[in-house]
Amino acid sequence: MQIVILNDATEVAAYGADIFTAQLNKNANSILGLATGSTPVALYQALIERNKAGEMSFKGVTSFNLDEYLGLDGSHLQSYRHFMNSQLFDHIDIDNANTFVPPGDAKNPISACHEYEEKIAQKGGIDIQLLGIGRNGHIGFNEPSSGLTSRTRVKTLTKATIDDNARFFGADEYQPHLSITMGIGTILDAKKVVLLATGDNKADAIQAMIEGPLTAACPASALQMHRDAVIVIDTAAASKLKDIEFYRHIEAENQKLQAYLASL
Ligand code: PGA
Repeated sequence: MQIVILNDATEVAAYGADIFTAQLNKNANSILGLATGSTPVALYQALIERNKAGEMSFKGVTSFNLDEYLGLDGSHLQSYRHFMNSQLFDHIDIDNANTFVPPGDAKNPISACHEYEEKIAQKGGIDIQLLGIGRNGHIGFNEPSSGLTSRTRVKTLTKATIDDNARFFGADEYQPHLSITMGIGTILDAKKVVLLATGDNKADAIQAMIEGPLTAACPASALQMHRDAVIVIDTAAASKLKDIEFYRHIEAENQKLQAYLASL
């Protein structure tokens, strides 16, 4: 894992935006894996600004979102389809027909999961997968105990996740307890993964992901097995890392190496 520790959420979003901008400029037909939640909002804002400034285009891009609530259709204000349209897709030059979010209103959710996997494979696989992390270490809606090689499937949300997301639902509003989510194996198949985390409420999960054992009890720890995982965090999210100075040192050395390679 490449561990990048930055000062604050603004720097984390800009760093993430640099990675996505470079990817789109390298391959205009990139397949992006996208995420919802509070953390990616600032990154999406940065991408919108860069797209409007003509720094890169999403015209040839295909996107696949990590997850969706089961039981909500895309017009529901709390659906992740609605989130993606309002936070990103409506403001960039992407072709909406090339944006995929698991269908929360699928008549047969089990076959919808298989079809989602097939669609990703048909498009050639995901180039970069964006991730957040839950306080319980989840990635997507892969809650603790999720199989480390799991594929897209229906998952039950933990009480912690339901409580964390309750802030988005009205007091009397129906809040789903089930989701469709890419599996951990699906996420690990992406050529690159970029996980963003900010704030001290993520510090325990970040510590477990980076320094804990590889375990289904912390689904994000599966990223220890990925060959190109970049963890971009602010100092608050990094605050419980035991070996933080070592990670800062590695990154400083990494930057020197990159500068040398760029000079060749
Ligand atoms: P958050 O959610 O960005 O809203 O903190 C992250 C997640 O649960 O994956």
